[in-house]
Amino acid sequence: MTQAPERQRQDEQLAGKALLFDYRQAANPVRSGLTEPIPYRCWGPELHSQGPTAVLPLDLSAELGVKGPATSPGLAAHFIRIAAEEGVRAAANATSSLFFVLSGSGVCRSRHSGGSDREILWQQGDLFVLPAGGTPLLEAHTNSALYWVHDAPLLDYLGVTPSAPRFQATHYDAAWLQAELLELANQPGSSNSNRISLLLANRDLPSTRTVTHVLWAMFGIVPAGSTQAPHRHQSVALDLIITCQPGVYTLVGTELNAEGDIRNPKRIDWQSGGAFITPPGHWHSHVNESGEPAWLLPIQDAGLQTYLRSLDIRFT
Ligand SMILES: [Fe+2]
Repeated sequence: MTQAPERQRQDEQLAGKALLFDYRQAANPVRSGLTEPIPYRCWGPELHSQGPTAVLPLDLSAELGVKGPATSPGLAAHFIRIAAEEGVRAAANATSSLFFVLSGSGVCRSRHSGGSDREILWQQGDLFVLPAGGTPLLEAHTNSALYWVHDAPLLDYLGVTPSAPRFQATHYDAAWLQAELLELANQPGSSNSNRISLLLANRDLPSTRTVTHVLWAMFGIVPAGSTQAPHRHQSVALDLIITCQPGVYTLVGTELNAEGDIRNPKRIDWQSGGAFITPPGHWHSHVNESGEPAWLLPIQDAGLQTYLRSLDIRFT
């Protein structure tokens, strides 16, 4: 008989947050005012081309309704400007940090989980990835600009901090990347290809073939005069344009027409040193109407999506 008040008190405590929805009201909560859809957005090179040392988040957290800074639900992209002989901390509650050097040179210092120090010398065109921990310090030898993407928004959503590094710090040298990409471009058959790209991978992560277990990075050329057939994937792309001439753009939209072209596409014009978002599941096609090849570096959460078997990449 004494259980009844106990049971009532328990129900009041534990059931207070419980809710039920008609399936039709909650089956797809990705809509404005609820789980906000991921918008189109561009950022120009003027953000990092001049000014004092600063970390500049490409922050859409208010629009997405998530803790910031965040550029997509899972990732945060930034430009980092560092004046010569100055430094910035690039620490985040992240499992993966990727840096691409747009200009300049310097050194990245951080501390291993074991306590030893690590130094990565970087220069224009280099890319390097760091695992969890270490509180990296980026010191510039000359005026520098970097693109930095990490997965802290994903960890903040989960309410976790990393327990251990999942890969070793890895450096992709600019000269090596460029030589490998040019060799690929010069192979027989590449002249007919509208997609000449290298996927960056890590020997610690053989199954996903991605640059970290969460992040995916592609170093690619869109040849002059080419139009890529549309493709789509469930990963969000945080695209960095390394260099291009006017007349290069991406067409993006949610549907294809009967001819396999993107219906009512939005055009996103590329700028050297600029960045833009390709939302998940949207069809996109890169077009180069300039007379020069264009170089790009999309960063995605496709390591995670591949692990979850949810990438769903499709081509027309
Ligand atoms: Fe893509």
